[in-house]
Amino acid sequence: MTKDKSQYTKLPVHVAIIMDGNGRWAERRGLPRTEGHRKGANRLKEIVNTCLDIGIKYLTVYAFSKENWKRPITEVSTIMKLAEYFFKREFDKFKKKGVFFRHLGDLEGLPPSIRRIIVDMKSNDTPDRNYEDKRLVMNIAFNYSGRSEIIEAVKKISGKVLNGDVKPEEINEELISESMYTAGIPDPDLLIRTGGELRISNFLLWQSAYTEIWVTRTLWPDFTSKLFKKALEDYSKRDRRFGGLNIYHS
Ligand code: IPE
Ligand code: IPE
Ligand code: MG
Repeated sequence: MTKDKSQYTKLPVHVAIIMDGNGRWAERRGLPRTEGHRKGANRLKEIVNTCLDIGIKYLTVYAFSKENWKRPITEVSTIMKLAEYFFKREFDKFKKKGVFFRHLGDLEGLPPSIRRIIVDMKSNDTPDRNYEDKRLVMNIAFNYSGRSEIIEAVKKISGKVLNGDVKPEEINEELISESMYTAGIPDPDLLIRTGGELRISNFLLWQSAYTEIWVTRTLWPDFTSKLFKKALEDYSKRDRRFGGLNIYHS
């Protein structure tokens, strides 16, 4: 039986996923790593649909990091082709279901065809950023680096200080959050990492200050909706203290 929103005691508003393990999935089967990426893209479709079914409002997926350019050209170009295919083929279908897409990352260095899709995506962004009429806001971190994002935010804020629009003493958490790629989106409540690595790999460094982390050794192409729901169940039992104490301690 599929659980709906009302059946979870505490549902995360924002789920972030490090979709890792595509390469290993393929290597274990004697297949080229690119096959793992292909399978991984299909898995993503399934998880987006599950988010829609359950009523997750924000989903952020790590699809390609700035560090991933270090990989062999054949692997990188397959990922670029798959991304383009996914953006072109799947965006419209998901948009009809109420998904709003956003890009997190740097446009610089991306192939022109992908850039065009992303620029188009940005041009549809609502200036008030409340997304009330959207069922799901999906952020795709593509050519993303958490440190670069912070550098960009520092540059934006420095410009405002130099212009006299912001005084140095006015710089606060809110201003920094609003200067990030994720402006207008709440911090992730839950970060899922597949593939078993116990690290953050330069993902959402600022935003994940108090995010609950859930790691599975399951590789991304094998990550089912069932396992996703298990992560949500586990999250609902987490005790989020944000540095404070629970009421029963007072
Ligand atoms: C994640 O899978 C996808 C990308 C980084 C693009 P990997 O390709 O990193 O898979 P593993 O970690 O090598 O198995
Ligand atoms: C993180 O996975 C990036 C993505 C899933 C897109 P990596 O495979 O690049 O991370 P490391 O190298 O194991 O830290
Ligand atoms: Mg990896």
